[in-house]
Formats: sequence, structure tokens, C-alpha cells
Amino acid sequence: MSPYRNLIIGSVLLLTGVVGLTTTTGSCSSMGKMMGGMMDRDGMKGMMKEMMGAQLPPGIEPKELPDPQSNGAKLLAQYCTQCHDLPSPGMHSAQAWPSVVERMNQRMQMMSDRSMMGMMHDIDAPTERELEALVAYLQKQAQKPIDRSQYEDLNSLAGQSFDKTCSQCHTLPDPKQHTVKEWPAVVQRMKQNMRSMDKPVPDEETIETILGFLQKHAK
Ligand code: HEC
Ligand code: HEC
Repeated sequence: MSPYRNLIIGSVLLLTGVVGLTTTTGSCSSMGKMMGGMMDRDGMKGMMKEMMGAQLPPGIEPKELPDPQSNGAKLLAQYCTQCHDLPSPGMHSAQAWPSVVERMNQRMQMMSDRSMMGMMHDIDAPTERELEALVAYLQKQAQKPIDRSQYEDLNSLAGQSFDKTCSQCHTLPDPKQHTVKEWPAVVQRMKQNMRSMDKPVPDEETIETILGFLQKHAK
């Protein structure tokens, strides 16, 4: 699906939500109430999840954010939960985040534009400064990419499974990000992410092979 198609679906959902909330007069009353009840912001989030769940970030809790009291973490929880659950900074590398945030910001700017039919006032958009703080926070806490030149055994069978499996949603992670003890839980969580994002989950043997590779090179 192209980003524009998604942008349009997103706007339509939002527009329906706001219209639903405001048409509560006359014969539209019951329908308006029904839609109003269904299509507030949570309603919109639910509907988005249903329609494009696999493309949305699997959410985390605000308290799970790194450095949760920082300005960046607060801005993330404020702006980035308006349409879907809270995305984790570890989902993308420092290099990848700016373009993802830019795509999200375009949506927020468009949907917060009060001139647009005077109805799109349910979404808040960040200021330039807030946006900079957001991107800086995401980049600081981002996924660390592997340095491929340091891992000759990426060509091995285990290395190839790791490469193929673990680069589908984000850049291929640096095994030095976790200890031997930490990796199993991270890999288990990634299996959950694969399910919620509609990616194939490798069989147990492959998972074990990948885990072996990660632990061999762990920090
Ligand atoms: C106005 C609604 C809206 C807001 C606000 C919003 N998003 Fe999104 N987001 C979407 C939609 C729709 C998708 C799925 C389509 C896509 O990926 O563009 C998405 C998908 C994503 C994804 C998964 C796709 C990918 O490229 O990894 C991430 C990560 C994400 N958003 C991060 C953020 C962050 C960070 C913010 C806050 C700066 C944010 N979003 C704010 C609508 C929104
Ligand atoms: C279906 C998409 C998807 C696949 C495939 C995937 N990941 Fe992730 N990964 C995510 C998302 C979403 C996050 C951020 C949320 C989280 O941490 O669970 C993330 C975050 C991470 C992080 C940073 C957070 C942390 O705890 O350090 C690491 C490391 C990671 N993934 C490793 C892996 C490894 C190793 C594999 C292969 C076994 C893998 N990922 C496969 C979606 C995926």
C-alpha cells in the first residue's frame, strides 16, 4: 500500500470521527450518537488497528520508554499515540528515524490544519522545536545497526538466517546490544512482533540457530 493511500485512509477515518461527533442534531441524532460513541480518538485508533494493524508499530507502555522523564519521551507519548499505540525508539536506527518521523509529521500537520474544513482539530501537531527534540530522542535511543564488515560469519548458515529474519522490520541489529543472558527474551519479544506485524515466524530450530549467532557475538 502506498503512503498516500494510507494517508487518505487515515484522514477519512479521522474526518468520519469528527463528523460523527458533530452531527448530533435532528434526524441524525441517533446515528450521530452512535458514531460519536464509536469514533472518538480511541475509536479511530481501534479502526486503524483493524484496517492496518500489521503496518502500525506494536505499542509499548510509556514507562517502558528509555529515560521516561526526558522531554523527548514525553513528546513521543504526547504526539505519537494519537493514531496508534506508542512506538518504541528501538524500532528504527538513527539513520532511519528522520524519514519515518517526517512521514508522520506530514499527517499531523495536515490533520491539525484548522483551515481544512474547520473540522480537523482533533490531532495536534508538534512545533519545529518539539519535532527536533523528538527526532533527537529517537536517534539517541535508536536501534544500533550491525557493522557488517566485522562479522565474516554472516555468510554462514546461522548468519544468513539471522540476516534474513532480523532485517525485515528494522535494520539488522548489532549483537553487541545485549548480553548472552538478555538475548533469549529479546528474541521471544521479536516473535510476538512478527505475529502482530504479520511476518512469518521461523520454526524453533531456526530461532535457536539465530539465538546461537546472537549469543556468540553478544556483549
Ligand atoms: C495522524 C496519525 C498518526 C500520528 C499522529 C502518528 N502516526 Fe505513525 N503511523 C500512522 C499510520 C497511518 C501508519 C501506517 C502507515 C505508515 O507506515 O505510514 C503509521 C505507522 C507508524 C510506524 C510503523 C511503520 C514504520 O515505518 O516503521 C511507526 C514506527 C510510526 N508510525 C511512528 C510514529 C511516530 C514516532 C509518531 C510521532 C512522531 C507517529 N508515528 C505519529 C499514523 C500516525
Ligand atoms: C515483525 C517485525 C520485526 C522483526 C522481524 C524483528 N524485529 Fe526487532 N523490533 C521490532 C519492533 C517493533 C521493535 C521495537 C519494540 C520492541 O522492542 O519490541 C524492535 C526492536 C528491536 C531491538 C531493540 C530493542 C531492544 O530490546 O534492544 C532489538 C535489539 C531487536 N529488535 C532485535 C531483533 C532481532 C534479533 C530480530 C530477529 C530475531 C528482530 N529484531 C526481528 C520489530 C521486529
